[in-house]
Amino acid sequence: MTIKEIYELSKKQDKSIEGKEVTIKGLVRGNRFMGNVGFILLNDGSCFSSLQIVYSSTDKKAQAIRMGCSISVKGKIHLTPEAKQIVELESMKIDLISDVEEDYVLQKQRMSFEYLREIPQWRVRTNTFNALFRIRSTLSYYIHEYFHKNGYLWIHTPIITGNDCEGEGQVFDVLASGDKVGESKYFNSPNPHLTVSGQLHVEPFALAYQKVYTFGPTFRAEKSNTTRHAAEFWMIEPEIAFADLDTLCKIEEEFLKYVVKNTIQDCEDDINVFASFIDKNLKTKLNDFLTKSFEFVEYSDCINLLKKAQKEGVKFENNDIDFGLDLNSEHEKYLTEVVFKKPIFLRNMPKDIKAFYMKLNDDNKTVQAVDLLTPGIGELCGGSVREDNYDLLLKRIKELKMPLESYKWYLDLRKNGSMPHAGFGLGFERLVMLVTGIDNIRDTQPYPRNYRNMLF
Ligand code: 4AD
Ligand code: MG
Repeated sequence: MTIKEIYELSKKQDKSIEGKEVTIKGLVRGNRFMGNVGFILLNDGSCFSSLQIVYSSTDKKAQAIRMGCSISVKGKIHLTPEAKQIVELESMKIDLISDVEEDYVLQKQRMSFEYLREIPQWRVRTNTFNALFRIRSTLSYYIHEYFHKNGYLWIHTPIITGNDCEGEGQVFDVLASGDKVGESKYFNSPNPHLTVSGQLHVEPFALAYQKVYTFGPTFRAEKSNTTRHAAEFWMIEPEIAFADLDTLCKIEEEFLKYVVKNTIQDCEDDINVFASFIDKNLKTKLNDFLTKSFEFVEYSDCINLLKKAQKEGVKFENNDIDFGLDLNSEHEKYLTEVVFKKPIFLRNMPKDIKAFYMKLNDDNKTVQAVDLLTPGIGELCGGSVREDNYDLLLKRIKELKMPLESYKWYLDLRKNGSMPHAGFGLGFERLVMLVTGIDNIRDTQPYPRNYRNMLF
């Protein structure tokens, strides 16, 4: 049995577990003795709560057990509904599996998140991070559940590719020994690199199955050291045939609310840690996210709103506000936190600030793009309707001087059994930030990978 199962049955006051003999293994979170009894707090990672083990103080071996040790306890369950802990385990036998060294790092009081980042192999044993990675796992579970319940296929797109989907040139090259950048003998390909997005490779699958998604690691060699950018992060990319921009936004909102709602329900104790110690307003924010409907806003209207704010005396660092501006995070913040006070779908951006594959609008200036901006996080998702007109897509690839040979396979999809389609990408770590209130992306990754930072 796990501690989680024991708590679940105890909450229901299920009498069948009273007196039941179980063996629980895990890490010691604390050990104290008072008079003739001792109490060990044992955590097995299955839930936030630790289980109280009660032992007799004549058990000298148990008394010597230190915080951080791993132990195995055989004992009897007792329901104690009147006590602070609704259940406890009366020890019959405690075995030490592994002791801790004198200088075991987690014995120190209060460690900063910055310090804990340097010891990712240990920080997962702290309350906060232990809760965080349970939430991260639960979020991924509900992401898959949403898509599978709604008839999507999970497609495993490649990690190594020759196509730079976003066209930013910020890629990590992949070299076999003896290879040079620009000529991979191993792959017989000019520029194999780690993927920045699974989108291009998932599109053909959307044309065959109509509803598909990717969920995997992506890599960006951005030389920026922000709290929202990682070099390695996970992305979820649904791609849907016959979807237009409105449909795409509706799916995005329904999907996000489904995942967040179910996760915070399942992880109530874990969320409480963040609501108590990280962000006192977290519950209100999450409730707002779930109950307010996201706002649809045109890019051009946002530019006007920002200009108006400027006239009224709001100071931005980048005051060059006009059509064509790629919004900075200060502008996103102003729109989501001051003007709309909720998530916004920013739509129909200028083509010059967006990727080559986005569908051109009739004005020839904007594309059918949508970024979901949320208070606190900024850009959570980026998506678009895809250009399905062969000639327009070819023209765009040429305008941007992209290597046509590398994209012919993608372009040709527009000539054979083509169909309109649209999709978006959700940065998974940013979703973890939203749900936990954690404000640095490095603290949402099991092993942070960022500009000038990679341990192990
Ligand atoms: O807006 P992006 O660049 O869009 C794409 O990659 C599209 N191909 C997605 C699609 O339409 N299928 O990235 C999508 C999301 C962003 O909104 C952001 O949440 C996240 O991925 N993201 C990052 N997250 C962490 N670190 C980075 N360096 C990120 N870059 C993008
Ligand atoms: Mg984007």
